[in-house]
Amino acid sequence: MTWTPDSWRTKPILQQPQYPDIEALHEAEKDLTNSPPLVFAGEARRLRKQLALVSKGEAFLLQGGDCAESFEEFHVDTIRDTFKLILQMSVVLTYGASMPIVKVGRMAGQFAKPRSSDTETIGDVSLPSYRGDIVNDIAFDAEARTPDPARLIKAYHQSALTLNLLRAFAQGGMANLEQVHRWNLEFIKDGTQSSRYETLANEIDASLAFMRAMGITAESTRELRETDFYTSHEALLPGYEQALTRVDHISGNYYATSAHMLWVGDRTRQLDGAHIELLRGVENPIGIKCGPSLEPEDLIRLAAVLDPHNEPGRLTLITRYGASDVGRYLPPLVETVEREGLSVVWSCDPMHGNTIISSNGYKTRPLERVVAEVQGFFEVHRAIGTHAGGVHIELTGKNVTECTGGAAQIVDENLADRYHTHCDPRLNASQSLELAFLLADELKTRAPRGL
Ligand code: PEP
Ligand code: CO
Repeated sequence: MTWTPDSWRTKPILQQPQYPDIEALHEAEKDLTNSPPLVFAGEARRLRKQLALVSKGEAFLLQGGDCAESFEEFHVDTIRDTFKLILQMSVVLTYGASMPIVKVGRMAGQFAKPRSSDTETIGDVSLPSYRGDIVNDIAFDAEARTPDPARLIKAYHQSALTLNLLRAFAQGGMANLEQVHRWNLEFIKDGTQSSRYETLANEIDASLAFMRAMGITAESTRELRETDFYTSHEALLPGYEQALTRVDHISGNYYATSAHMLWVGDRTRQLDGAHIELLRGVENPIGIKCGPSLEPEDLIRLAAVLDPHNEPGRLTLITRYGASDVGRYLPPLVETVEREGLSVVWSCDPMHGNTIISSNGYKTRPLERVVAEVQGFFEVHRAIGTHAGGVHIELTGKNVTECTGGAAQIVDENLADRYHTHCDPRLNASQSLELAFLLADELKTRAPRGL
């Protein structure tokens, strides 16, 4: 069947806002169609190449950021701190695993949220659910919750500004390895993770001094001075994605230009649905969230539609089962993919299957469960002989108290202190670094294929 950027419109679709003013929606989409692309096809192709290395076990994927970006939390400090945290984690991983780390932010476009119910009821009032700042406002009143197409434009502009900062941070000096000590965030400076990190940063300094003596410096070597940092989000609103889909004049192919990588959520990956239809026609790297409801055979059908030529780097399977279920669901999925000979990146989202309600009513995630799912993920891949290729984490460089546990020993009673997320609970910087050290240890013991 021929694909066009709007062929998704003839397919069944889930998780969409009900806009009262359709005319205004069309105007907003038209405005976006005439707006510049945020990313370029060549960048998306470069990411695909790097993900192809991940699928072969020659690199590791670190994807992370907010569950939902918001208009309220938009600030240069927030973006800088999350960027620094991802750099810190990646240096821990590179040093531990001796392999390149492919860095992808859930940033510069991660606004739209799927919800378990179309409405939220408090007392005897029912209103549309909050679907992310790109759709409506989180405040529980009728006007705030009405989907507003002007928010599509605002989210696009915020994405452009965020991306501008990310590009400057990645290429303008902050990512210079000589700055490795400066990536340490203020609020974790006294903790255990921080001193582990400082030890590692000192070792890196020593290596850099050696290389400098050999004539290899940050001035002469781009890899020491700059980094590649990519963006990604869930492609939940096909209208928004369609408006930013463009033909690349070099290859003649279509690319989504809202982000380098897009993924389809666990609730919207129906084989005959609109979201899959949209994604099958763009050449970006694509992620598929794989939860307990995904039958292995259905995944094979999805792969045939999204990646008919089985090209390494095209598909990233982001598995999210929960610590107690990863050992049950992941092996049959991996075995089926292996049996079919598909080249994919296996990534672990240890967040979405490990959400619980705390004793005092907060949605939270215990760090020990997050860690346990990651360990389970590595165990399964080790046993089958496949590559545990990456992780997908909800995190922030801010000192929030949203997930429990970790060296700072956040308990239920602390959650109220700094619980700022617009959707799911994120790991804070110290919890994220703790996870990175654990991952580095796992990667050191990752058996190469066939051994
Ligand atoms: C998410 O990544 O924020 C999300 C909603 O995940 P999933 O689709 O896996 O539930
Ligand atoms: Co989430």
